[in-house]
Amino acid sequence: MGALDNQKILFCVSSGLAAYQLPELVVALNLQGAQVTVLVEPGGGEWVSLRLLAMHADQVATDASELSGDLNEFSARVLLVGEHPLADNSWLDQVIADATDRDYPVTLLLAGGEADEPVSRLRQSDWISIPAQASSGLPRFDAEAVIAALARAQSQPLLAGKRLLVTAGPTFEDIDPVRFIGNRSSGKMGFAVATAAWHAGAQVELITGPVARPSPQGVKLTRVRSARDMLTAVEAVIDQQDIYISSAAIADYRPLEAKKQKIKKGQREVNLELVANPDLLKWVTQRPEPPFCVGFAAETERVEEYARGKMASKNLQMIAANQVGAEAGGFESEHNQLHLFWSGGSKLLAWSSKAEQARQLIETVAERYAGWR
Ligand code: PMT
Repeated sequence: MGALDNQKILFCVSSGLAAYQLPELVVALNLQGAQVTVLVEPGGGEWVSLRLLAMHADQVATDASELSGDLNEFSARVLLVGEHPLADNSWLDQVIADATDRDYPVTLLLAGGEADEPVSRLRQSDWISIPAQASSGLPRFDAEAVIAALARAQSQPLLAGKRLLVTAGPTFEDIDPVRFIGNRSSGKMGFAVATAAWHAGAQVELITGPVARPSPQGVKLTRVRSARDMLTAVEAVIDQQDIYISSAAIADYRPLEAKKQKIKKGQREVNLELVANPDLLKWVTQRPEPPFCVGFAAETERVEEYARGKMASKNLQMIAANQVGAEAGGFESEHNQLHLFWSGGSKLLAWSSKAEQARQLIETVAERYAGWR
């Protein structure tokens, strides 16, 4: 399943250099399950091969009247504005007016034209706008950000108006300036949860330990290193949250002392004295008015028993258990299978991508949250 399954998207493009990236963007949307129709402003064909586009898009046209079918059938619009001003009275104006009148979700990709009156009007609306980044002298859009914006525009806003905090990744506990201990985690699961929550309309903060992942679209990201850094970052924002989802693999112990200088090798044995790290989830649930708290449990055996034990001992509303140590799933892999538990109920999700696991987790969180308290 893709984030844009069964979506019909109208991709409108004003003339300009940024149009060169269209085939790549259309392929990225196709891979997420969307059917894409491209409407290029006359002159746009100077910047991109319309023949190449036609290989990937459902239809390609340079005038709305050339399109077969009804414009109302499109579930969303993307409007890419290049560096050339929008032509006066162009059909793009018409598409914009149409979308504004009928309240279609529009995602704006801006590679210029900010000074144009229609564009500044659009930016004042609550449509999501994504600026181009300069890359080797060319404007470039992040395809992941475009997909995320479209998915948010088309998802059910199950968590609209809710503030949600996610923790992700491992924590690193320094032994000396070059060595550390830590848990295994790539951050994929936690980042997918933050993205799914944003798609569902929430205002999302993500606090992550050291991982090499870019910030997800729409999400406020804070990077930390150790469990104590993560606690400080959580402390700073927890009182504003409605929901807290703790998917981070936080190291339970840290060296009693992080040495200032590199420990020289040579000894046959080195003893490392460890002390317990704070338990972030417990700290949160012991606050006077804690948010709705969801923990994760990475287990190698007796998954339900251990997960329910953690849910009770940490006083959580829900826990998402995953089996680790098997050949697939859990740490680092692209796929996973979560088993969700709450008091008096459970749900075993079918094996799928972490994005899909996260989408279904968020759906269940929204349901449980609605009936909480
Ligand atoms: O990042 P990926 O490679 O995609 O892998 C995802 C994952 C397997 C790491 C993730 O799905 C997962 O299971 N995360 C929790 C892993 C874990 O170590 O759980 P735990 O059993 O140690 O802790 C239970 C819960 O308490 C967790 O919600 C944890 O975030 C929280 N905790 C743990 C220790 C601590 N000091 N403070 C905490 O808040």
